[in-house]
Amino acid sequence: MTTTSSPPPVAPASGAVAARAIDARKVYGEGDTEVNALAGVTVDFAAGQFTAIMGPSGSGKSTLMHCLAGLDELTSGSVWIEGTNLTELREKDLTKLRRDRVGFVFQAFNLIPTLSAEENITLPLALAGSEPDQAWFDEVVKTVGLGDRLTHRPSELSGGQQQRVAVARALASKPAIIFADEPTGNLDSRSSAEILGFMRRAVTEYGQTIVMVTHDPVAASYADRVLVLADGKLVHEMFEPTSDSVVDFMKTFGD
Ligand SMILES: Nc1ncnc2c1ncn2[C@@H]1O[C@H](COP(=O)(O)OP(=O)(O)OP(=O)(O)O)[C@@H](O)[C@H]1O
Ligand SMILES: [Mg+2]
Repeated sequence: MTTTSSPPPVAPASGAVAARAIDARKVYGEGDTEVNALAGVTVDFAAGQFTAIMGPSGSGKSTLMHCLAGLDELTSGSVWIEGTNLTELREKDLTKLRRDRVGFVFQAFNLIPTLSAEENITLPLALAGSEPDQAWFDEVVKTVGLGDRLTHRPSELSGGQQQRVAVARALASKPAIIFADEPTGNLDSRSSAEILGFMRRAVTEYGQTIVMVTHDPVAASYADRVLVLADGKLVHEMFEPTSDSVVDFMKTFGD
């Protein structure tokens, strides 16, 4: 783990920063097999903003999110969650921060098959030994639109419903930031629209911060900002994206 001193994060005038990477580098392998998965990424994620990360396969999208979420370590540089430098945390403190302040949604819903939807949503809180905030839980369940399905097991839910449970689970602890790696990658367009609408509402209505990897210009259009990675570097940024503006950029870019 890198413990060299890094510049303290400077909050931009516009507001709080939920997550930040400073000159993030990640090298896998060595010699002939060396891969620069992240080749110096500096980026801020403002609190209350929905960001989509796009870019070709192998461009470092998952690596960036895993390092920001404290699931993987940088080779050099630093990553911050709400002003805490993850690169300087001890394993125990990192585990606590990850549990309390970070939500993660994977492409494969990662639900526990033997638990009901409700039990899946409250599981991380139960593991952390915290009581769920009942009012917040009710709000999340209302927004997720699963009211009468809470007692169902994942196998009794559609793919879109399962992924909404996974997002609700990430929301339940009110994390500083939710990272979602291709959360709609396995879903049909209707289920995708459901889950994207839900994530959009979590940002607009509750001020949740979300960073989502996607290959889909329609999914990206739900975000406030699109970042494009190529060869481990940030190469483009778009604000207020529409699916057309994303498609137009991707055409010039050749993804
Ligand atoms: N554990 C690992 N060991 C070695 N190389 C790795 C490892 N994880 C990722 N890589 C390499 O790092 C680069 C970036 O991978 P990453 O998974 O971040 O890409 P991605 O942009 O998420 O791609 P995709 O769109 O296919 O999910 C790739 O070249 C990949 O092969
Ligand atoms: Mg990936």
